[in-house]
Amino acid sequence: MKGLVISSLLLPLALAGVVPRAEEKVDYSGFKVLRVALPESTEDIEAQIEELAAHVLNPGKSAHLDVVVSPENIDAVTALAAESSVVNEDVGAALAEEGEFKAYAVPSESWFTAYHSYADHTLFLRDLQAGFTGQSELVTAGSSVQGRVINGIHIWGSGGKGSKPAVLIHGTVHAREWITTMTTEYFAWQLLTKYSSDATIRALVDKFDYYIMPVVNPDGFVYTQTNDRLWRKNRQTLSSNSCVGRDINRNWPYKWEVPGGASTNPCSETYKGQAAGDAPENRGLVAQVNALRDARGIRLYLDVHSYGQYILWPYGYDCSLRPDNDAKLRSLATSAASAIRAVSGTGYTIGPACSTLYATTGDSTDYTDVPGNATYSYTYELRDTGTYGFSLPANQIQPTVRETWAGVVSMLQGA
Ligand SMILES: *[C@@H]1O[C@H](CO)[C@@H](O)[C@H](O)[C@H]1NC(C)=O
Ligand SMILES: [Zn+2]
Repeated sequence: MKGLVISSLLLPLALAGVVPRAEEKVDYSGFKVLRVALPESTEDIEAQIEELAAHVLNPGKSAHLDVVVSPENIDAVTALAAESSVVNEDVGAALAEEGEFKAYAVPSESWFTAYHSYADHTLFLRDLQAGFTGQSELVTAGSSVQGRVINGIHIWGSGGKGSKPAVLIHGTVHAREWITTMTTEYFAWQLLTKYSSDATIRALVDKFDYYIMPVVNPDGFVYTQTNDRLWRKNRQTLSSNSCVGRDINRNWPYKWEVPGGASTNPCSETYKGQAAGDAPENRGLVAQVNALRDARGIRLYLDVHSYGQYILWPYGYDCSLRPDNDAKLRSLATSAASAIRAVSGTGYTIGPACSTLYATTGDSTDYTDVPGNATYSYTYELRDTGTYGFSLPANQIQPTVRETWAGVVSMLQGA
């Protein structure tokens, strides 16, 4: 993983002062992913397991927990669990299959065959836009805790800039979900590079204004490259607690206060923050959603995550409540899942978020559905279902971005 070490040297000097302290990069050699079934009536045991684990990979899920556990703690976790199985024997070896970072070259299809440093992702967007100045511009949505600008690209068609309803797409909300950076960049790449040669794409670009933000959690993403590959949250600190980070997808200011769908413990992977919308990243994203709502309205919002292979729609905060257009949300998701399956055979599960996966409060799609007045809001959970989890091998990048794009195209056609 030589590329990762090099990337840490590229961290802008201006940021050095706000990085809490130089920590060693976590070495996951010999760590296992255990899938753990909890004994009944045992909040306590769950807390003990979380304490022993290096990371919880699927925080919030009640049926079982997938946890990354160091060699020293494996026996202790296994002893606490009602049942456990090994999902991945060696996380370090799985991470090695992500491959080395590829040196940056002007945007081309080969970009989607390797993972890249944060600095190179920023260059990718800049250079892609520079090739299509007549129908795209770089946009921002506020900035992060450590002062990184949240970058994106706005793409429009024959109606001219800002003339159509918005399609808003967020990627890399959770820092470790690297496949989502690649996938959202692929959407922008396809829309711009195929516009002149592919009538299907041209019709879609002419139909909407696209706002694609591949990395909405830049501090967390950089931290996954410099310190801990499995970091999830932002990098916000508290004076009252040494644990770092708020979960950006539990901090949106809508139904944030509802109990049960996020954690109030700053050490948890799903820490909701001290107040609704108190993460700087969320302030920027909320302003972006509100501005698009007030301009031409939001037709489609996609929050792209991994992993699990789900397409989910509101609500996260209530398992029985459904949006008025639930049937249409289901029909677009059904068509997207079939389009994905037709490309590669990859199977997706679809449904309302809370009843299909688990309860979430302060999540993006509840915000975009109600305060954001978006017509359709979805969360995608990309490949896989746990074998590699967040560290999909490099040879799965292209298959994943291509199948996902087919799903999104079918949604855009129906939206
Ligand atoms: C919400 O969006 C619909 C179009 O989908 C529009 O007709 C309506 O005026 C919008 N409402 C608000 C409050 O923006
Ligand atoms: Zn996520």
